[in-house]
Amino acid sequence: MAKIHAMWQNYPEIETELAQSLALIEDNIHTKNQAVTDAILEMISAGGKLLRPAYCLLFSQFNPVNRQKMIALAAAIETLHTATLIHDDIVDDSDLRRHQESIQARFGKDVAVYAGDYLFVVCFKLLANYASDLKSIQFNSQTMDQILDGELSQMTTRYNLDLTPKQYLQQINGKTGQLFALSCFIGAYESQKGLKFAHQAEKIGLNIGLAFQILDDILDYTQTDINFGKPVLDDMRRGVYSLPLIMALQSNRQTLAPYLDKQSAMTDADVHAVQSIVRQSGSVEKAQALAQDYTNRALAGLAKLPAMPTRTTLQQLTKRLLTRKA
Ligand code: IPE
Ligand code: IPE
Ligand code: MG
Ligand code: MG
Repeated sequence: MAKIHAMWQNYPEIETELAQSLALIEDNIHTKNQAVTDAILEMISAGGKLLRPAYCLLFSQFNPVNRQKMIALAAAIETLHTATLIHDDIVDDSDLRRHQESIQARFGKDVAVYAGDYLFVVCFKLLANYASDLKSIQFNSQTMDQILDGELSQMTTRYNLDLTPKQYLQQINGKTGQLFALSCFIGAYESQKGLKFAHQAEKIGLNIGLAFQILDDILDYTQTDINFGKPVLDDMRRGVYSLPLIMALQSNRQTLAPYLDKQSAMTDADVHAVQSIVRQSGSVEKAQALAQDYTNRALAGLAKLPAMPTRTTLQQLTKRLLTRKA
């Protein structure tokens, strides 16, 4: 059985199903190229947190029918997520992912492009084989469209010191929020709890995803590469300005601009100077408050769902994500 992230040790039921999802993904990796196969298998076994499939499975537990189908759909979601990470590391020129060398750094960009492409294929294969009807597949392609939208908007606003919190929120809605929304929707919809319940789940998932990405962007300013398992502060040098910096720019623009105006020529010292201004400006705390806000909205949505053990797990997990350090 595949080994999964330690955070699930206290939830044996979900841990077993997540392990089955991972095993199913591994069983579906058969490419004609050894490097592509090896790259994918190493990435899959590197110990991702499996949050999106977990949310899918937890929402399906309100009506726990047909576990095999739910395990496969959760696998499809994790496959899509993993593909976006592999491609993201090419775009971000990132050499560390899940505490190990990224695929693009270890195997080269070509292998990384094909590995990501192949995982999109596996995702659609699983969906086509296991979804009850076209609804989940339609939502899945819509989500892929929105992820791309978020990424393209992020690309076109690089090095823009006037980027607003609103624009940032639109970007993270696309690149991260929608996939959490999809995960929760599919879990609810495919367990035959009806479309209304599925849309409630979708809304909760979106709020969870927004809080998750804001926190991820905070950790970029407060963690080290070693703890985080991926490079910190690289986005700044590449002109991708996230919420802590956007908020700091509102109060400290004069001090920050001379560093940021150097764009890709920023030195390590420049990057650390910006980091310390951001931290001293109180923007990390402000961003944290916004993440708390989205988490509260998710929790308010969860409170309206039937009082079942899976709701308690969802509440605990959603609160816990706000205090994560990696
Ligand atoms: C990373 O997501 C990408 C973001 C949306 C910030 P995760 O932090 O869930 O990645 P893994 O799967 O655990 O590596
Ligand atoms: C995460 O992008 C979202 C997608 C992969 C689409 P980021 O670039 O913000 O995430 P990390 O920091 O590399 O995980
Ligand atoms: Mg990126
Ligand atoms: Mg990245």
